[in-house]
Amino acid sequence: MTSDPFTSEAPMIAASILAADFSKLGSEIDDALSGGADFLHLDVMDGHFVPNISFGPPIIKAARPVTKAFFDVHLMIDEAVRYAPEHIKAGGQNLSFQVETVKDPASTAKQIKSLGCRVGIVLNPATPAEHIYPALEFVDVVLVMSVVPGFGGQSFMPEVLPKAREIKRRLTRHQRLEMDGGLHAQTISQAADAGVDWFVVGSGIFGEKDRKAAIAELKDKIKR
Ligand code: DX5
Ligand code: ZN
Repeated sequence: MTSDPFTSEAPMIAASILAADFSKLGSEIDDALSGGADFLHLDVMDGHFVPNISFGPPIIKAARPVTKAFFDVHLMIDEAVRYAPEHIKAGGQNLSFQVETVKDPASTAKQIKSLGCRVGIVLNPATPAEHIYPALEFVDVVLVMSVVPGFGGQSFMPEVLPKAREIKRRLTRHQRLEMDGGLHAQTISQAADAGVDWFVVGSGIFGEKDRKAAIAELKDKIKR
Protein backbone atom coordinates (compact mmCIF):
# COMPACT_ATOMS: atom_id res chain seq x y z
CA MET A 1 0.00 0.00 0.00
CA THR A 2 1.33 3.50 -0.76
CA SER A 3 0.28 7.01 0.25
CA ASP A 4 2.19 8.38 -2.76
CA PRO A 5 2.52 6.14 -5.85
CA PHE A 6 4.65 8.79 -7.57
CA THR A 7 7.61 7.91 -5.35
CA SER A 8 8.11 4.70 -7.34
CA GLU A 9 8.15 3.78 -11.02
CA ALA A 10 7.06 0.22 -10.23
CA PRO A 11 3.80 -1.04 -11.79
CA MET A 12 0.88 -0.69 -9.37
CA ILE A 13 -2.62 -2.08 -8.82
CA ALA A 14 -5.35 0.44 -7.96
CA ALA A 15 -8.45 -1.20 -6.46
CA SER A 16 -11.63 0.37 -7.86
CA ILE A 17 -14.12 0.46 -4.99
CA LEU A 18 -17.10 0.74 -7.37
CA ALA A 19 -17.14 -3.08 -7.35
CA ALA A 20 -16.92 -3.32 -3.53
CA ASP A 21 -19.76 -4.30 -1.19
CA PHE A 22 -20.87 -0.84 -0.03
CA SER A 23 -22.68 -2.28 2.98
CA LYS A 24 -19.22 -2.89 4.45
CA LEU A 25 -17.01 -0.49 2.55
CA GLY A 26 -14.44 -0.09 5.34
CA SER A 27 -13.67 -3.79 5.58
CA GLU A 28 -13.70 -4.11 1.78
CA ILE A 29 -11.03 -1.40 1.56
CA ASP A 30 -9.00 -3.12 4.29
CA ASP A 31 -9.32 -6.43 2.44
CA ALA A 32 -8.06 -5.04 -0.86
CA LEU A 33 -5.16 -3.06 0.63
CA SER A 34 -4.02 -5.76 3.08
CA GLY A 35 -4.40 -8.15 0.12
CA GLY A 36 -1.75 -6.19 -1.79
CA ALA A 37 -3.52 -3.44 -3.74
CA ASP A 38 -1.28 -0.37 -3.86
CA PHE A 39 -3.93 2.37 -3.65
CA LEU A 40 -7.64 3.09 -4.24
CA HIS A 41 -9.42 4.25 -7.38
CA LEU A 42 -12.69 6.07 -6.65
CA ASP A 43 -15.20 6.35 -9.49
CA VAL A 44 -17.37 9.46 -9.26
CA MET A 45 -20.28 9.44 -11.73
CA ASP A 46 -22.86 12.23 -12.21
CA GLY A 47 -25.49 10.56 -14.39
CA HIS A 48 -24.80 13.14 -17.13
CA PHE A 49 -21.40 12.34 -18.62
CA VAL A 50 -22.11 8.65 -17.97
CA PRO A 51 -25.54 6.97 -17.71
CA ASN A 52 -24.97 6.01 -14.06
CA ILE A 53 -24.72 7.69 -10.67
CA SER A 54 -22.18 6.20 -8.22
CA PHE A 55 -20.99 8.38 -5.31
CA GLY A 56 -19.19 11.64 -4.49
CA PRO A 57 -17.40 13.52 -1.70
CA PRO A 58 -19.42 11.98 1.20
CA ILE A 59 -18.17 8.47 0.37
CA ILE A 60 -14.61 9.70 -0.19
CA LYS A 61 -14.78 11.51 3.18
CA ALA A 62 -16.09 8.33 4.86
CA ALA A 63 -13.31 6.23 3.34
CA ARG A 64 -10.51 8.68 4.10
CA PRO A 65 -9.91 7.79 7.78
CA VAL A 66 -9.93 4.06 6.95
CA THR A 67 -6.52 4.13 5.30
CA LYS A 68 -3.47 6.20 4.43
CA ALA A 69 -3.53 4.75 0.92
CA PHE A 70 -3.44 7.21 -2.00
CA PHE A 71 -6.90 8.19 -3.29
CA ASP A 72 -7.05 8.32 -7.09
CA VAL A 73 -10.37 9.98 -7.96
CA HIS A 74 -11.83 9.38 -11.44
CA LEU A 75 -14.27 12.22 -12.18
CA MET A 76 -16.78 10.96 -14.74
CA ILE A 77 -18.69 14.24 -14.39
CA ASP A 78 -19.47 17.25 -16.56
CA GLU A 79 -18.12 19.96 -14.25
CA ALA A 80 -14.82 18.66 -12.90
CA VAL A 81 -13.38 22.09 -12.05
CA ARG A 82 -16.53 23.18 -10.20
CA TYR A 83 -16.52 20.04 -7.99
CA ALA A 84 -12.75 19.54 -7.67
CA PRO A 85 -12.37 21.45 -4.34
CA GLU A 86 -14.97 19.27 -2.56
CA HIS A 87 -13.27 16.10 -3.76
CA ILE A 88 -9.91 17.32 -2.51
CA LYS A 89 -11.38 18.42 0.84
CA ALA A 90 -12.94 14.93 1.16
CA GLY A 91 -9.50 13.33 0.71
CA GLY A 92 -8.89 12.95 -3.03
CA GLN A 93 -5.18 13.21 -3.91
CA ASN A 94 -5.26 12.76 -7.68
CA LEU A 95 -8.25 14.09 -9.61
CA SER A 96 -8.61 12.81 -13.18
CA PHE A 97 -11.02 14.62 -15.51
CA GLN A 98 -12.45 13.35 -18.80
CA VAL A 99 -11.06 15.22 -21.82
CA GLU A 100 -14.47 14.82 -23.55
CA THR A 101 -16.09 17.16 -20.99
CA VAL A 102 -13.94 20.27 -21.51
CA LYS A 103 -13.21 22.81 -24.27
CA ASP A 104 -9.67 23.62 -23.07
CA PRO A 105 -7.99 20.57 -21.48
CA ALA A 106 -4.74 22.44 -20.75
CA SER A 107 -6.57 25.15 -18.82
CA THR A 108 -8.64 22.55 -16.94
CA ALA A 109 -5.50 20.64 -15.97
CA LYS A 110 -3.82 23.82 -14.73
CA GLN A 111 -6.90 24.90 -12.75
CA ILE A 112 -7.16 21.54 -10.95
CA LYS A 113 -3.42 21.38 -10.35
CA SER A 114 -3.51 24.88 -8.83
CA LEU A 115 -5.76 23.47 -6.08
CA GLY A 116 -2.73 21.60 -4.74
CA CYS A 117 -3.53 18.03 -5.83
CA ARG A 118 -2.23 15.76 -8.58
CA VAL A 119 -4.16 15.92 -11.86
CA GLY A 120 -4.95 13.30 -14.49
CA ILE A 121 -6.61 13.43 -17.90
CA VAL A 122 -8.84 10.58 -19.07
CA LEU A 123 -9.72 9.55 -22.61
CA ASN A 124 -12.47 7.15 -23.62
CA PRO A 125 -11.89 4.28 -26.04
CA ALA A 126 -13.24 6.28 -29.01
CA THR A 127 -11.26 9.44 -28.20
CA PRO A 128 -8.05 9.89 -30.24
CA ALA A 129 -4.80 10.44 -28.33
CA GLU A 130 -4.36 13.82 -30.05
CA HIS A 131 -7.20 15.26 -27.94
CA ILE A 132 -5.08 15.14 -24.79
CA TYR A 133 -1.80 16.39 -26.26
CA PRO A 134 -2.44 20.09 -25.52
CA ALA A 135 -2.71 19.19 -21.80
CA LEU A 136 0.03 16.56 -21.64
CA GLU A 137 2.73 18.77 -20.10
CA PHE A 138 0.35 19.86 -17.33
CA VAL A 139 -0.82 16.45 -16.05
CA ASP A 140 0.66 13.85 -13.72
CA VAL A 141 -1.40 10.92 -15.03
CA VAL A 142 -2.96 9.89 -18.34
CA LEU A 143 -5.81 7.42 -17.86
CA VAL A 144 -6.66 5.41 -20.98
CA MET A 145 -10.12 3.85 -20.62
CA SER A 146 -10.29 0.24 -21.80
CA VAL A 147 -14.08 0.18 -21.42
CA VAL A 148 -16.76 2.79 -22.12
CA PRO A 149 -17.05 4.43 -18.67
CA GLY A 150 -20.12 4.11 -16.47
CA PHE A 151 -20.09 0.57 -15.15
CA GLY A 152 -17.78 -2.04 -13.67
CA GLY A 153 -17.63 -5.63 -14.89
CA GLN A 154 -17.38 -4.83 -18.63
CA SER A 155 -15.13 -6.56 -21.17
CA PHE A 156 -11.62 -5.28 -21.87
CA MET A 157 -11.26 -3.42 -25.21
CA PRO A 158 -7.81 -4.33 -26.65
CA GLU A 159 -8.26 -1.81 -29.48
CA VAL A 160 -7.10 0.92 -27.05
CA LEU A 161 -3.63 -0.67 -26.67
CA PRO A 162 -1.94 1.04 -29.67
CA LYS A 163 -3.17 4.38 -28.35
CA ALA A 164 -1.74 3.55 -24.90
CA ARG A 165 1.67 2.74 -26.44
CA GLU A 166 1.66 5.99 -28.40
CA ILE A 167 0.84 8.04 -25.31
CA LYS A 168 3.41 6.22 -23.18
CA ARG A 169 6.12 7.26 -25.65
CA ARG A 170 5.27 10.89 -24.92
CA LEU A 171 5.32 10.73 -21.10
CA THR A 172 8.22 11.79 -18.88
CA ARG A 173 9.47 9.52 -16.09
CA HIS A 174 7.56 11.72 -13.63
CA GLN A 175 4.23 11.01 -15.32
CA ARG A 176 2.21 7.77 -15.13
CA LEU A 177 0.13 5.87 -17.71
CA GLU A 178 -2.99 4.34 -16.11
CA MET A 179 -5.53 1.94 -17.66
CA ASP A 180 -9.04 1.28 -16.40
CA GLY A 181 -11.73 -1.21 -17.27
CA GLY A 182 -11.97 -4.96 -17.81
CA LEU A 183 -8.54 -5.64 -16.34
CA HIS A 184 -8.20 -9.09 -14.75
CA ALA A 185 -5.89 -12.13 -14.86
CA GLN A 186 -6.61 -12.85 -18.54
CA THR A 187 -6.26 -9.30 -19.86
CA ILE A 188 -3.80 -7.41 -17.64
CA SER A 189 -0.63 -8.69 -19.36
CA GLN A 190 -1.69 -6.97 -22.61
CA ALA A 191 -1.91 -3.66 -20.74
CA ALA A 192 1.47 -4.27 -19.10
CA ASP A 193 3.03 -4.98 -22.53
CA ALA A 194 1.69 -1.63 -23.75
CA GLY A 195 3.66 0.15 -21.02
CA VAL A 196 0.90 0.81 -18.49
CA ASP A 197 2.15 1.83 -15.03
CA TRP A 198 -1.07 1.83 -13.01
CA PHE A 199 -3.78 -0.83 -13.47
CA VAL A 200 -7.28 -0.12 -12.20
CA VAL A 201 -9.07 -3.30 -11.17
CA GLY A 202 -12.61 -3.45 -9.79
CA SER A 203 -14.48 -6.72 -10.31
CA GLY A 204 -11.15 -8.50 -10.83
CA ILE A 205 -10.53 -7.89 -7.10
CA PHE A 206 -13.87 -7.32 -5.33
CA GLY A 207 -15.66 -9.94 -7.43
CA GLU A 208 -13.20 -12.55 -6.17
CA LYS A 209 -13.63 -14.57 -2.96
CA ASP A 210 -9.89 -14.61 -2.25
CA ARG A 211 -8.79 -11.02 -2.93
CA LYS A 212 -5.23 -11.65 -1.77
CA ALA A 213 -4.77 -14.48 -4.26
CA ALA A 214 -6.40 -12.47 -7.05
CA ILE A 215 -4.10 -9.49 -6.45
CA ALA A 216 -1.03 -11.71 -6.19
CA GLU A 217 -1.88 -13.22 -9.60
CA LEU A 218 -2.40 -9.75 -11.11
CA LYS A 219 0.90 -8.49 -9.66
CA ASP A 220 2.71 -11.47 -11.04
CA LYS A 221 1.43 -10.63 -14.53
CA ILE A 222 2.46 -6.95 -14.43
CA LYS A 223 5.97 -7.53 -13.06
CA ARG A 224 8.65 -5.84 -15.20
C1 DX5 B 1 -15.83 2.40 -15.14
C2 DX5 B 1 -14.83 2.79 -14.05
C3 DX5 B 1 -13.84 1.70 -13.77
C4 DX5 B 1 -14.48 0.41 -13.28
C5 DX5 B 1 -13.48 -0.71 -13.33
O1 DX5 B 1 -16.51 3.54 -15.57
O2 DX5 B 1 -14.12 3.94 -14.41
O3 DX5 B 1 -12.90 2.16 -12.78
O4 DX5 B 1 -14.94 0.60 -11.95
O5 DX5 B 1 -14.17 -1.87 -12.99
P1 DX5 B 1 -13.79 -3.27 -13.67
O6 DX5 B 1 -12.35 -3.52 -13.25
O7 DX5 B 1 -14.77 -4.24 -13.05
O8 DX5 B 1 -13.93 -3.12 -15.15
ZN1 ZN C 1 -12.44 4.50 -13.11
